Amino acid sequence: MKKIAFITGATSGFGRAAARKFASEGWSLVLSGRRLERLVELKEELEVPTHIIQLDVRDADAVKRAVAELSSEFSQVTTLINNAGLALAPEGADKVDLADWHTMIDTNCTGLVNVTHALLPKLIEVGAGSTIINVGSIAGQWPYPGSHVYGATKAFVKQFSYNLRCDLLGTGVRVTDLAPGIAETEFTLVRTKGDQSASNNLYQGTTPLSAEDIAEHMFYIATLPNHININRIEVMPTRQAWSPFAIDRD
Ligand SMILES: NC(=O)c1ccc[n+]([C@@H]2O[C@H](COP(=O)([O-])OP(=O)(O)OC[C@H]3O[C@@H](n4cnc5c(N)ncnc54)[C@H](OP(=O)(O)O)[C@@H]3O)[C@@H](O)[C@H]2O)c1
Repeated sequence: MKKIAFITGATSGFGRAAARKFASEGWSLVLSGRRLERLVELKEELEVPTHIIQLDVRDADAVKRAVAELSSEFSQVTTLINNAGLALAPEGADKVDLADWHTMIDTNCTGLVNVTHALLPKLIEVGAGSTIINVGSIAGQWPYPGSHVYGATKAFVKQFSYNLRCDLLGTGVRVTDLAPGIAETEFTLVRTKGDQSASNNLYQGTTPLSAEDIAEHMFYIATLPNHININRIEVMPTRQAWSPFAIDRD
């Protein structure tokens, strides 16, 4: 069977690393993101059949159209990687702009369900061995200050992934919530709205996960024998762990 991966958020970080990994293994690719110039560059770099789509996952009609317009060369998608997402507003809940909360919900939840809904019929048609990898986060499981809506959107990703599994039972389609810990990508640059020094400081003096580490996990999940479904993988760097409970004192 021809292998085709549909990756959202392929212009940076995990998504771009996944494109390179799957291409190196000979998969055909459908790559999407908002920054067209990056998609064009990536397509030029990759030596496998690649279709690029400038796409904002928040736009349900555009997502539906993009999937409907896939040529026969790319339409039998075997793996969907719902990776597009972001965190904003690292400050406390009482200090954030409501618009930032809406952007996270619209991208991480609504965007993810838009793409899933559009591609489900194709994945079900492919059946056994097809895979949906939803990129969650440790923030979907573990609370921390400043995570507020971001963590809540990733808890949505986790539960949506589990619930999808129930409805897809018997179709052969697998669903995994892949939940990384701290990883060095453009994630913190986006979260701080372009503060490069804040981003550098976060990753300095430790060993975060790399985008390639996560891409390797994606490829592993997508190429397991058909009868194995990993429900959730939480991946942290060795140099990250939890803190004790915070206590308010007099
Ligand atoms: N890095 C971490 O520490 C970490 C940890 C746990 C989970 N995650 C999750 O991992 C995923 C990938 O993040 P990353 O770390 O690789 O960050 P990144 O380098 O900032 O990449 C994010 C990707 O998402 C795309 N994206 C954002 N909003 C979009 C929209 N409305 N429509 C389409 N694409 C959109 C971006 O593309 P365009 O801007 O070109 O559209 C970009 O390709 C996210 O879901 C994030 O929440 C990251």
